[in-house]
Amino acid sequence: MVTILDNRQHVSTSVVDEYWNDHTVTALPFKTADESARYLSWLYAEYPLSGELLGIWGSRDQQIVLDYGCGPGNGVVGFSLFTRAAKIIGMDISLKALRLTQSRLGLHSIDENRVSLIWISDSNATIPLENESVDFINCQGVLHHTSDPQAILKEFYRIGKPGSTCTIMVYNAESLYLHLYTAYEKMIVENAFPGLDLLEAFRKNTDGENCPISRCYAPSEFLEICRGAGFDAVYEGGYFSRSELRALNRHRENCLSDERFADEHKDFMKNLTFDLRGYPQYKGKYAGIGGVYKLRRP
Ligand SMILES: C[S@@+](CC[C@H](N)C(=O)[O-])C[C@H]1O[C@@H](n2cnc3c(N)ncnc32)[C@H](O)[C@@H]1O
Repeated sequence: MVTILDNRQHVSTSVVDEYWNDHTVTALPFKTADESARYLSWLYAEYPLSGELLGIWGSRDQQIVLDYGCGPGNGVVGFSLFTRAAKIIGMDISLKALRLTQSRLGLHSIDENRVSLIWISDSNATIPLENESVDFINCQGVLHHTSDPQAILKEFYRIGKPGSTCTIMVYNAESLYLHLYTAYEKMIVENAFPGLDLLEAFRKNTDGENCPISRCYAPSEFLEICRGAGFDAVYEGGYFSRSELRALNRHRENCLSDERFADEHKDFMKNLTFDLRGYPQYKGKYAGIGGVYKLRRP
């Protein structure tokens, strides 16, 4: 069994640590390797364009791969099964998630020497890895939940080898999820978050009502943060969740004539264009919640 190293170094736990120790993306352990592998295929199908925009998994020949905020092991298992990475390091603030990853690795009989699991804390952004020691960092759906994403990105730079790359997903503010699903379906049609402003409603509408931090970024804003940490960075576009695509089908026409719907959201909807498959784009990029960024450390 892969050991879980405790690197919290007696830092005090924050509300973010506490929340994620309770709340995991998939709370139930898988019973078989087949069930775990099928979940991975289901997951990438459930988020249209995710595999395409993320470029999952790549060959990663002999690389050292860090899956930062690995959760219950989707990335750690995927990189172990589908790439030739020499080492895969999974790091998370949730012991519960790391234990799920651990048991999943056991189901797949993955060589223990190929994987490390490290328990960290949101209160300390320092990543317990040497300078210039990592070839590739995967970080999906994590930084928008953290107390100090800038500090974590600077750590990604420090531990990355020159020429190394990162694939990062953070929630996209130029998305149907924010402008239509949250601002219209939830806030207006369902009146689900009375008295809350849009960003507070968004926080409650993503990873659970009580998730302490859940931000979204305009691509220009997140690119600036990445570049501020020293990276070359490009924005690939936002992949979709089923909820926002369903909201598009339900409300695409009626939201524009609804006087309760603010002009900024109507303008967003009016400026959407559609590709040949029918997926909406905003300013030429897919307008889903999963904003994908590719970073390169010079
Ligand atoms: C929505 S889950 C995503 C899990 C995984 N990356 C995936 O794509 O399946 C967010 C994860 O980020 C972790 N997390 C939150 N704050 C963190 C931090 N400061 N450092 C590392 N991980 C963090 C949580 O514990 C949780 O497992």
